[in-house]
Amino acid sequence: MPGIRGPSEYSQEPPRHPSLKINAKEPFNAEPPRSALVSSYVTPVDLFYKRNHGPIPIVDHLESYSVTLTGLIQNPRKLFIKDIRSLPKYNVTATLQCAGNRRTAMSKLRNVRGVGWDVSAIGNAVWGGAKLADVLELVGIANLTGSTNLGGRHVELVSVDRCKEENGGPYKASIPLSQATNPEADVLLAYEMNGETLNRDHGFPLRVVVPGVIGARSVKWLDSINVIAEECQGFFMQKDYKMFPPSVNWDNIDWSSRRPQMDFPIQSAICSVEDVQMVKPGKVSIKGYAVSGGGRGIERVDISLDGGKNWVEASRTQQPGKHYISEHNSSDKWAWVLFEATIDVSQTTEVIAKAVDSAANVQPENVESVWNLRGVLNTSWHRVLLRLGHSNL
Ligand code: MTE
Repeated sequence: MPGIRGPSEYSQEPPRHPSLKINAKEPFNAEPPRSALVSSYVTPVDLFYKRNHGPIPIVDHLESYSVTLTGLIQNPRKLFIKDIRSLPKYNVTATLQCAGNRRTAMSKLRNVRGVGWDVSAIGNAVWGGAKLADVLELVGIANLTGSTNLGGRHVELVSVDRCKEENGGPYKASIPLSQATNPEADVLLAYEMNGETLNRDHGFPLRVVVPGVIGARSVKWLDSINVIAEECQGFFMQKDYKMFPPSVNWDNIDWSSRRPQMDFPIQSAICSVEDVQMVKPGKVSIKGYAVSGGGRGIERVDISLDGGKNWVEASRTQQPGKHYISEHNSSDKWAWVLFEATIDVSQTTEVIAKAVDSAANVQPENVESVWNLRGVLNTSWHRVLLRLGHSNL
């Protein structure tokens, strides 16, 4: 690929913040400290989780880097970074969440395959870039198109990194053409993150951001955009990131029986205190995040101290000091909502958080009911045990 290449080994990884916990054999992904998640609405780039399935690509020459638009379209073409930058720029605040967020809680119940993430495989950033809908218009695909004259119904997004799951081939995924061409879906080809040039870990020079959808579809280091008839047949669409019931195991799994996961479900997690944390008797601040897929707002976050018999409602914000209103035009539709409640602790207490979205979707009570062999989409009530003892909290 002119201008960019995907190395086959890990000798040229970018530097990473020392507080990131390395979460794999090769130092290529990391879990940020959970406190970083609630200390600011916008997650600092250094502390944003990084999930890479192969070594990070290297850009040798930005000017010769280009994205190829091809497939079932009349006029295939190449776009250089200057062409993308010359399109109208949008800043979209969107939460990116790995489908494996909170996997460790699932693996405590029964073994699962996958990287062990606690509650931090999630972050909220301001992504700056061009809309995919505008880019597709350049090759003659009008906004709100569900299918092209040549039969294209999906948009495949292909990278340059080399993944062992793809037998050394590039990471790829697809989204429906109807979503890609819908300006309101805010699918971006992003070149900025939090007002800075995107860094290597997060997809420099160009990545896709698909708001409200599991992180796996937000392809980094974009190389080509293919308009195709069926959804992408890559490993991460067909043999991973699918939702299976608890009864499916590695002997009876039939990958073709399920569709690729797209929107993420309603989720919340407590971040200001950890599970099994010592606290002094008295007031404890319970803070965390809540987010739902598909642009659905957060209607409520409830906190219980008695196993779910009684609940109190937490306050919700996106902007400091300003009450968040679900699905109001003052709210960031694709972004998480931070919640806070102050509780009084006089004995060892399990604190539970449970969120409800604008479609009244609620987190399930137990991890048992959503357990699956890949440990994805653990959205069960989030529980942390506070033990009375000596602490500075
Ligand atoms: N894109 C490429 N090219 N390669 C990858 O390994 N990982 C995906 C997605 N896009 C991945 C990718 C997954 S699983 C997630 S959760 C997000 O990127 C993580 O994005 P981040 O590292 O910017 O947080």
